[in-house]
Amino acid sequence: MSPGPTAYLTEKCVVRNRDVNGGKAVIAREPIAPGELVAVWSGRIVSAAELDDLSPAIRRHTVQVDEGLYLASLTADELPDFINHSCSPNAGLRGQIAIVAMEAIEASTEVTIDYAMCDGSPYDEFDCACGSHACRGRVTGEDWCIPSLWTRYAGHFSPYLERRIQRLQQARLQPRVRRKRTLLAAVDGATGNPA
Ligand SMILES: C[S@@+](CC[C@H](N)C(=O)[O-])C[C@H]1O[C@@H](n2cnc3c(N)ncnc32)[C@H](O)[C@@H]1O
Ligand SMILES: [Zn+2]
Repeated sequence: MSPGPTAYLTEKCVVRNRDVNGGKAVIAREPIAPGELVAVWSGRIVSAAELDDLSPAIRRHTVQVDEGLYLASLTADELPDFINHSCSPNAGLRGQIAIVAMEAIEASTEVTIDYAMCDGSPYDEFDCACGSHACRGRVTGEDWCIPSLWTRYAGHFSPYLERRIQRLQQARLQPRVRRKRTLLAAVDGATGNPA
């Protein structure tokens, strides 16, 4: 008996051909509510070194799930793997492998995520054809570093990227705190208050 698909795609979506991205896409065929679960990726965990041994079709359907760890699909036809990138996405990650709607998605609309939510290394970089007004032009493994995305996608980054972002935010705050302390010390010094 065939084990069947290992990944999950809500029955509210279908996979269709879409020429603009040179491949297929996931399209809603019924309205999807904000926060609703759309898909769950599956596969086996591989290291960065093992990525090079994967066939192009499987490599294309691989997602980074932690530092140096990637989820590679078992077959090239797992339905959630056809979710494309958009620089103005309507869905985002919940945890490492689940995808939820970030807003109400109408029927006949393509379901997209921003690959900045999951990719933290340069294993899947390409020129973007999302066509959105906010298009970054190129999708890279460093897009998660863009501060404007941190608030826009709060709660929808993969957990390992959330940790990286927290560290970056702390590092960005450090000099400001030090600057404030210096300023306070300077003011207290000027008014005669003990620092
Ligand atoms: C996980 S697959 C997405 C499904 C893909 N369309 C397919 O049919 O296999 C990721 C690949 O799709 C293509 N892709 C996804 N979003 C894209 C976009 N906005 N612009 C251009 N290519 C995109 C890139 O080649 C990327 O490596
Ligand atoms: Zn784009």
